Amino acid sequence: MTDAVTSTAKADAYADTRRRIDALLDGPIDWIAAMATVACELHHTFDLYDWTGFYRNVGDQQLLVGPYQGPHGCLDIAFDRGVCGTAARTRETQLWPDVSEAPDHIACQSSTQSEIVVPVLTPEDELLAVLDVDSDTLGAFDETDQTHLETLCRSLGERFSDTELR
Ligand code: SME
Repeated sequence: MTDAVTSTAKADAYADTRRRIDALLDGPIDWIAAMATVACELHHTFDLYDWTGFYRNVGDQQLLVGPYQGPHGCLDIAFDRGVCGTAARTRETQLWPDVSEAPDHIACQSSTQSEIVVPVLTPEDELLAVLDVDSDTLGAFDETDQTHLETLCRSLGERFSDTELR
């Protein structure tokens, strides 16, 4: 399969997943339930997603694990540690086709080969959480994943901008 076809198929899968998520989140729902739903839908759509979940900003430059799918994930990450902490600190997406090249990658699973971490920001630029996706496959994530996950996280930040930290 060529990259172009792969990219188109991936974009179509993200569009379908986004429609499902929007339908599932339609109505009164809180931030925890929304994170759980997003993690579930993404994880069970994309075969290369081996760990999918959120780390919540709980203040004091600290992330705590939120809803996730996959094997045990580390419970807390300071903003000065790991790929997640870098995403939280810089408020920029971290995309690593090969985590062995990430300066301070935290390996919750030794099988992880690639990772993308996207900040969830409110319109006021407050950090609610980061969305972390790990894959046991090298180069699992690319610009298509980044674009669609950033769009999804931006909509979550807008919808849950009044969420209290902790
Ligand atoms: N790899 C992340 C830690 C979270 S586990 O992957 C679920 C990091 O380096 O911050």
